[in-house]
Amino acid sequence: MQRIPLLAGNWKMFTTLAEAVDLARAIADHPLPADRQVMLAPSAPALHAVAEVLRDTDIALAAQNVCWEDKGAFTGEISPLMLKEAGATMAIVGHSERRQIFAETDELVNKRLTGALQAGITPILCIGETLTEREAGSTMTTLENQLRQGLAHVNLIRGDELVVAYEPVWAIGTGKTASAAQAQEAHGFCRSVLADIFDKAIAQQIRILYGGSVNPANVDELMAEADVDGALVGGAALKAETFLPIINFKTQ
Ligand code: 13P
Repeated sequence: MQRIPLLAGNWKMFTTLAEAVDLARAIADHPLPADRQVMLAPSAPALHAVAEVLRDTDIALAAQNVCWEDKGAFTGEISPLMLKEAGATMAIVGHSERRQIFAETDELVNKRLTGALQAGITPILCIGETLTEREAGSTMTTLENQLRQGLAHVNLIRGDELVVAYEPVWAIGTGKTASAAQAQEAHGFCRSVLADIFDKAIAQQIRILYGGSVNPANVDELMAEADVDGALVGGAALKAETFLPIINFKTQ
């Protein structure tokens, strides 16, 4: 099965409601190439309004996090059902900002991911090593642990039920991108771990996105790598001028 490239914008805690609607409109107004998929992840209060803008387009809407329970005493959390009601079909889980600033553990990430899957929301599992881990030579160990723990007890019928995003922490918001070769090495390794967790056929269907200072100047080179199936974009996704060229990356 061919993996359809996914160009995803993570707007993090940016944009007012009006800015979110304008940005979504600016992206939706452009014809998108048919051979790729686009996803936008606005802040939770903007989900519903952005969903209205994206109605009748092929652009997917994602939440930036998701709880595992449908309802209950979980102050500050948003349930998968609430996200679906707001129009989201995908949800980011385990972003390094959640792990580092909000101390989310692999166990918690696994609960979120499982909750999303059970509700029919496609999780985007973020993993990635810190600079210290890279310099210590433990990048692959970190990635393998985050994958195995994040995906514990998960069964997939098809690989397109899950997206993985490799986001080296040292490349996020720093302007430092992993080289295409570094990205391919990590993505290839992740796919081999996924083949071990699930099976080879499912691993071949799972899209693995690269994230970390992706911009219009480096996207073509990254996307040319065999196991790079898309990009999870922060800063450059906040302006149509920089996100549209990323969506329109050139295939080799
Ligand atoms: P930047 O593209 O700003 O480095 O952010 C990447 C990211 O964290 C996407 O989730």
